[in-house]
Amino acid sequence: MPRLEIRPFGTEHLAACGALLADRHRRHRAAQPLLSPRFADVDAAVAELTAVFGTADASGAVAFRADVPVGFVLGAPKPSPVWGPNVWVEAAGQAVTDAEVARDLYAAAAARWVDEGRTAHYVLVPAHDTELAHAWFRLGFGQQHAHAIRRASGPTPTTGPPVRRATRADVPVLARLDVELPLHQGRSPTFSAGRLGSVEESLAEWAEDIDNPDYATFVVERDGEVVGSAVGCAIEKSGSHLGLARPENAGFLAFAAVFPPARGTGAGRALGAAVVDWAADSGFDSVVTDWRVTNLLSSRAWPALGFTETFLRLHRLVGY
Ligand SMILES: CC(C)(COP(=O)(O)OP(=O)(O)OC[C@H]1O[C@@H](n2cnc3c(N)ncnc32)[C@H](O)[C@@H]1OP(=O)(O)O)[C@@H](O)C(=O)NCCC(=O)NCCS
Repeated sequence: MPRLEIRPFGTEHLAACGALLADRHRRHRAAQPLLSPRFADVDAAVAELTAVFGTADASGAVAFRADVPVGFVLGAPKPSPVWGPNVWVEAAGQAVTDAEVARDLYAAAAARWVDEGRTAHYVLVPAHDTELAHAWFRLGFGQQHAHAIRRASGPTPTTGPPVRRATRADVPVLARLDVELPLHQGRSPTFSAGRLGSVEESLAEWAEDIDNPDYATFVVERDGEVVGSAVGCAIEKSGSHLGLARPENAGFLAFAAVFPPARGTGAGRALGAAVVDWAADSGFDSVVTDWRVTNLLSSRAWPALGFTETFLRLHRLVGY
């Protein structure tokens, strides 16, 4: 086999790497047909890659054999401090003809990232591609997060505690439920650095948002008391399901929380099912959600409701 040659990613590589990305997406869609068909088109893939390359401080590497491109990795930092001194390889940020090449590409690209002081690395890997995920595992990465999808139509539970649409009278309890998610995820074993807002902040937001028609808010009751809530909306409202990870005409399970004493008794499942049913009634084809894989509750509840992974977010902290 001709030797692998690695070069820094440049504008001149966008067309060839876009073609590799479109190929990757075609394979991904064969495993996960609910993903958008759009990016199997080379022009759409090139446009996506061009946008990533245009991000501030984007950099990466391209691999060649006998002058033929066989893979690329392209990353860029996010400004938010919650990710540390970071670089992200997003949904459009890699494609390889052979999984092992990803390791050579990372080796070349990461040298610059670490030189720049960016030591927290994140990479989105198509969930069906176990060889590629294993190549990243052999680079010191582990899974942090899952993006997932299910059809909007299809089986959802018909039994469970009663769920109804939230009203303005529910604003105080909705505000209390808002803080339950960051509270839970700040604890072991997730240890998320996500900001823990106050109930007062949430109250002010809910007072404005409760009637916003772009969001469908549900509450679940036990013995006449609200014990949990969930929010559905269009995927376009999400800031984290972008590009190749944003299916067309999809709803989004954006939020769910149940008070601790009521967890594990079917309330979350009833809320998730209500959002899926709302998405089907609203004409969406699919429903997207995501979870920290270290969140023992959501990582069990959403797959049990029929969500299957589309992208794995892997993470590595360099230096230890
Ligand atoms: C995630 C959350 C909303 C789920 O609600 P819940 O009321 O606890 O969940 P349920 O009791 O409805 O259980 C849902 C599914 O998870 C499964 N599950 C629950 N605990 C489990 C366990 N220990 N092991 C395996 N599966 C488990 C249940 O079996 C159920 O599936 P099934 O109905 O097919 O059996 C709730 O736990 C919560 O508020 N967690 C903290 C905040 C959070 O993580 N929000 C989600 C952010 S993405």
